Amino acid sequence: MAVPRDHVTPGTIGRGYSATAADYDAAVRYNIEGAQRLINAMPQGDYARVIDIGCGTGVGSLAMARRFPSVREITGVDPSAGMLDQFRAKLQDAPDVAVSLVEGGVDDLDVPDGTFDAAIMTMSFHWFPRKAAATQRIARALAPGGIFAAVLPGEGVDEEFRSLLAQVEPPHTAFLGSFQAAPRSLRQMDAYLEGAGLEVLDMWIERRLRRSSVDAYLERMRVVAGHLGQGMDPADLDQNLAALRAKMEDAAGPRGFEYEFCKLFAIARRPA
Ligand SMILES: C[S@@+](CC[C@H](N)C(=O)[O-])C[C@H]1O[C@@H](n2cnc3c(N)ncnc32)[C@H](O)[C@@H]1O
Repeated sequence: MAVPRDHVTPGTIGRGYSATAADYDAAVRYNIEGAQRLINAMPQGDYARVIDIGCGTGVGSLAMARRFPSVREITGVDPSAGMLDQFRAKLQDAPDVAVSLVEGGVDDLDVPDGTFDAAIMTMSFHWFPRKAAATQRIARALAPGGIFAAVLPGEGVDEEFRSLLAQVEPPHTAFLGSFQAAPRSLRQMDAYLEGAGLEVLDMWIERRLRRSSVDAYLERMRVVAGHLGQGMDPADLDQNLAALRAKMEDAAGPRGFEYEFCKLFAIARRPA
């Protein structure tokens, strides 16, 4: 199926995330816990200067500040002004850290090379339009010995949801295309990291069986992928979401809608 990705620019993503930013943290408990697991898996180190790309409401940055007392400065980059506002409202949670928040996408990263001790991306890498180029840019921003850490949807994610999505009329092509295109395999991620001259320290996919109410599942979709509806006729979108909801309710068992969620974790180092 042709994927209309032209409207998925940092501008439209930014506006989409801004529209739902106030509801984000309440809807994505699993993203918050996944970011925490990524940060917990990073090697011990002196991470004075951190860049968090696609920082959103600050989930990854704040996990960094909690785990590593060495963190002194965090640069948060995100195209969504609304998500950055939510992050700004939490800065008291990291009182000893100087946080600067920059509105923009990874392709416009305007930071000096060799600067950061860690670059983190928690559930944002899959939205980067040019992943190999983005990885190279991020690698250059790292100081020698600096750590790249990312968590993103891994191969096999949300298959149950995607198969229902594929049956819905009218087709939600942007949603479907994005769900098909976003997940990465370990080998694909390895190629990005190696291609950027990074040394892979650890990489794995976790697969978790989850159950959720249909409402909670669709609310998560609304806050993480609401921008994908921007290119659609509003009447088609309403019809599509109603048909999707009906299919999910049919598929749900007594304990809710059951699905497997796969997260890919990647930790790499810029050679010293
Ligand atoms: C699912 S949220 C994750 C936010 C946060 N890192 C977390 O762990 O909760 C994805 C974030 O990626 C941002 N994003 C999307 N496209 C981006 C791009 N090209 N460059 C940088 N960030 C991007 C979005 O604005 C959004 O805030």
